[in-house]
Amino acid sequence: MYSLLLRLLFLLPPEKAHHVTMSLLRFALAMPVLQTFLRKRWKMLGKPVTVAGVTFPNAVGLAAGFDKDARYLDELEALGFGHVEVGTVTPRPQAGNPKPRLFRLVQDKALINRMGFNNEGMEAMAARLGKRKPGQMRLGINIGKNKDTPNEAATDDYLRCFRRLYAFADYMVVNVSSPNTPGLRALQDKEPLTRLLQTLLNERAQFVQQGIPNKPLLLKIAPDLSDTQLDEIAELCLETGIDGLVVNNTTLSRAGLQTPESEVTVIGAGGLSGAPLTRRADEVLQYLRNRLPASFPIIGVGGIMTADDAAERHKAGAQLVQLYTGFVYGGPDLVRAISRRLAAS
Ligand code: FNR
Repeated sequence: MYSLLLRLLFLLPPEKAHHVTMSLLRFALAMPVLQTFLRKRWKMLGKPVTVAGVTFPNAVGLAAGFDKDARYLDELEALGFGHVEVGTVTPRPQAGNPKPRLFRLVQDKALINRMGFNNEGMEAMAARLGKRKPGQMRLGINIGKNKDTPNEAATDDYLRCFRRLYAFADYMVVNVSSPNTPGLRALQDKEPLTRLLQTLLNERAQFVQQGIPNKPLLLKIAPDLSDTQLDEIAELCLETGIDGLVVNNTTLSRAGLQTPESEVTVIGAGGLSGAPLTRRADEVLQYLRNRLPASFPIIGVGGIMTADDAAERHKAGAQLVQLYTGFVYGGPDLVRAISRRLAAS
């Protein structure tokens, strides 16, 4: 069923296809007969897994950037995801980069995006989440800074989002690894990153003192870090006491693509995701796994296109996995296949 829908959706520009899909799904789930059918077909599979103190109903989630404004949580839960990471959300709303800013590389089963944190801002997200009845699915909230906030003031943006949205999250993620906000990745350097994480951890300690439950704080990193930078990330995990890593974001690399170079050049800047990222994401995970305690929580993301890819990532030490591009190309059947496979491993 999804392959037919996919053919039709791929006739539309990618960003339009995204909105059409989610609107269709919302429409379908609003009709009782279809809702019963779809919920049965895609019902959440897998077995619960506890990571960083949070129990997830299964090990597969939707990566950040798909539901930037937490609009479609009920629909995504109906597709069988055990968690969704919403965002990246910034303190103030922002439009993101001019369109087109999302491109398909069908031959490579990949996407290139330079969305640039288009989102409605933290107040809109808080209002939406405040009205939501939490279901079985767990919710991660991925936070960032506004484009026009200089890096010296970035901590304040992260802190504002952290304070405003903490109550709604099952876990929080600091995103310093998007390639589409100029200068953002410089925040991955050890010194500014330590300061940023420490500030958020201090804030959390105050929440906990006030009786608000402790929620894990994770860091999402880029796949383009050198070994030395990855060593620093591992040290920083142990020194600051953050609760886990999301490994990883999109890559700036264009190596090994089947799509003709001329087409790739015309697309221009942006982060590459999907099948060409599988190997590098595996490598980064393994590198960090060897430098961190075996139980240190890592969410594996990047180029998981099949249940085998997910099983491989799990074996390499990711307690949870997330999809974005694999979901675009593989649809809800992939979510089911992965949930089943990981429950059996
Ligand atoms: C992303 N990704 C992303 N990540 C993030 O932390 N914040 C974000 O806002 C976004 N936005 C976003 C938009 C689009 C269109 C794509 C394709 C990706 C990155 C995403 O969460 C994931 O880390 C990468 O895409 C790698 O996983 P896949 O796509 O290879 O499964």
